[in-house]
This record gives sequence, structure tokens and C-alpha cells, in this order.
Amino acid sequence: MPAEALVGIQIGDEGKGKVADVRAASVDAVGRYQGGNNTGKTVQNEYGRHVSHIVPTGVFHKKISIVERGVVIHPPSLVAEIDALIKMGINFDKLLKISPFAHIVGPWHQLKDRTSEAGSDGTKIGTTGQGIGPCYQDKMGRKFAIRVADLLDKNLFLEKLRTVYEAKSEKLRRYGDMPSFEEVRDSYGAARERIVPFIADTGKIIRDLLARRKTILLEGAQAFILDVDHGTFPFVTSSNTGSTAALMYTGIPFDELRTVVGVLKAYPTRVGRGPFPTEIFGIEAEKLRELGSEYGSTTGRPRRCGWLDLPLLRYAAEGVHATELALTKLDVLGRMGMIKICIGYEGVSEIGAFEFLNLEKQVPIYETINVEPIDAVESRDDFPGWVERVIKLIEEYTGVPVTFISTGPERNQYIQN
Ligand code: IMP
Repeated sequence: MPAEALVGIQIGDEGKGKVADVRAASVDAVGRYQGGNNTGKTVQNEYGRHVSHIVPTGVFHKKISIVERGVVIHPPSLVAEIDALIKMGINFDKLLKISPFAHIVGPWHQLKDRTSEAGSDGTKIGTTGQGIGPCYQDKMGRKFAIRVADLLDKNLFLEKLRTVYEAKSEKLRRYGDMPSFEEVRDSYGAARERIVPFIADTGKIIRDLLARRKTILLEGAQAFILDVDHGTFPFVTSSNTGSTAALMYTGIPFDELRTVVGVLKAYPTRVGRGPFPTEIFGIEAEKLRELGSEYGSTTGRPRRCGWLDLPLLRYAAEGVHATELALTKLDVLGRMGMIKICIGYEGVSEIGAFEFLNLEKQVPIYETINVEPIDAVESRDDFPGWVERVIKLIEEYTGVPVTFISTGPERNQYIQN
């Protein structure tokens, strides 16, 4: 099992952090390959509770932790994350490896993201406001991009920072006030010093690991339905999120990827705008949101909640080529008393391109199931009958086995086949 990808197959916030933290224990290295600090993976283990934005969960297991070139990095936030980990007692000096090819998020990206999202002209996406989209825009635009490699030489970096700052200030004047160049220079200059020791030839590290038959877990961020090419465009993030993206951004050959774990939550949630056929509202939604603490880990926004959507799940499981599934937050669903599961859309046998393009018009067909709380379970046989029904439906619809079931937030609360 040289490479294993772990990807979200709903609309984000599936609980990938917990699954990654468990699986990281049995691999040699962990890699992040896309996204930035728009993502927030919550990990709860013997060190405490931590929201990881950029640093892979491998650091909790003393594993090589790689940030690959598809990731975009906001240096002051990365340093804050590093400091939070150090405060928790984690030493990763020789473990964290950051690709010189990754791109840097500037304050101009955040300003552009936040102000272009502030209007009410119908173009609002509901982004996290972290400047991720504008940073990828500059990457593709190739004119005003700064990369991690630029941090290596202090003088050249400050020179480039000034050139880009001036060009951007000119363009962004209509968006509002940017911090002064001196402020940007001081915060990015200080962050530079802290990040430089972690810059490494991650491509070579990965090739060496594979040559020595070591195993790498590739941790995805966001989810397949938020993928810029496969998701609900324009209500998506600005990178590719699936398992094939994991290979593209890391350069790992396709025949090295044997396992793709599709992570799904027992009920999907969505932050930001975009179609959500099984969304629920009112008291029922509030109950689910409170029981599951469904508030954005990056922005604190209340998440939109809905019932499990099997047609959409099949679309995503096929899209990421899932070989197994990890199901999270089943314990939360168990406290709802009664749940619904979408087993089809009216008049639609399968989601193809045209059904997906009209997702907001789909009318779900539901199966209703009475549920009861899941108390301490030690094996799959201990689950109440409703759990087996839910798992059977998921497996039948996707054709992929559920091999991991999370039954609570703690690291040891899970059942694995
Ligand atoms: P952006 O990635 O900040 O540009 O936001 C684009 C869309 O992706 C918005 O709907 C965000 O709420 C959503 N999004 C980005 N990152 C995450 C995440 O980690 N979990 C859930 N949704 C996310």
C-alpha cells in the first residue's frame, strides 16, 4: 500500500481530520496536496484539541509531514499554527517539509477575497475569506505570484514583496485599505525566518520514500463536491480536491495509489452558497447543528445541515475512485430520534452531467428510519439495527465497503474492519 488518499466525498467538513489522525499512525509519511487555511481539520487526541489548517496530521505521530506544491500558504497563519503545535508539546523540527513550489497568500489576496464577497450582487460564493481563490488566480496568471522558494533569499524576497505589493495596491485601491508595506514587510519577514528551515525538496523526499517501499497518506482538503472542475461550480473552492488531484499535485505515479478512502459524514453539511438538495431547515436543522457542533472551524459560520444524499454520494465516490469508505459522526445521527435518507431523486435514475448541472432542481425521495443512541460499541455487531440499515444503503448505492466508522470525537472512538 505505497500511497493512500483520504478525500471528502460530500461538501466538506466530513471529519477527515479524525480519520487522518487514526490512519497516520500506520503510515510512514503524511502529505497535504491542495487548499490552504480555508480548511480546518479538527483533531482531538492525547495532546488536546487542535484545528489543523496546513500542517499535516502526521506531526502527531512523529511522521514525515509534507506540504506539497498544490497548497497555498499564508505565512503569518502558518507560523501561528506552528506555534500552537509547539505549545501542545509537539516537536516536528525534522519532520515538517514544505515544497518550494507552493504559493504564498498575500494580504492583497485576502482583501480581494473579502471585499468581492461583501457585495450583494448575486456573485457571492460564500468563501472563507482567506484569499485562497485570488492566490490561485495569481498562480494561473503567473505575473504577481510569490512562491515559497522566494522566501529563501531574504533580500530578494523583500524586493519581490515590495514589487508585488505596489502593483497590487494600485489595482486594489477600489477594494479598500491594504496594510502599509512596512506592516506587511514586518509580518511576512518575521514569518519567513520561521518557515525557511522547513523548505525542502519534497518531490525527492516522496520519490525516495516510494523507492524504499514506504507508505504515504495523502490528506485531501475540502471535498469532491467543492472541486473546481467536478463540483457545483461556481460554488466551489479554487483547487482540485479528488484522488487524481492528489497524484497530480504530488507527482506520485497512478499505480502507486492503491487505496482511496472516501470520507463521509452521517449527514452532509455545507458552508457558503450552492445547491444542497437534502438541506433541512428550522428546528430539525438546528437540532442537528447543535448536536454535531456544526459551525465552521475556520470562520465559525453555522453550517447548513441536511440528510444523507445517496445519489450525490455515489457521484462523488465514483469521482474519487473510492476503494473504501470512512463514516463519521454516526453517534450524532443516533441522537436525532428519526432520520431521513435520500435514496433517489424524482424521475432520475443516476446523476450524470446534466442532472448534476441541475442539482438545485432535484427533488429527493426519502426513506425514514427511527434511530436510537449508540452507546459504547466494541465491534460492528454491537450496533443497533438502524446502523446496519444505514451502512447497507451506503454500501449498496456506492458499491464501496464502509471500513471505518467513527463513533465519537476521541481518537479511540471508532470501529475498523
Ligand atoms: P474558498 O475555498 O474560501 O474560496 O471558499 C469556496 C467555497 O468552499 C465556500 O463555499 C467555502 O465555504 C467552501 N470551503 C472551503 N474550504 C472548506 C472546508 O474546509 N470545509 C467546507 N467548506 C469549505
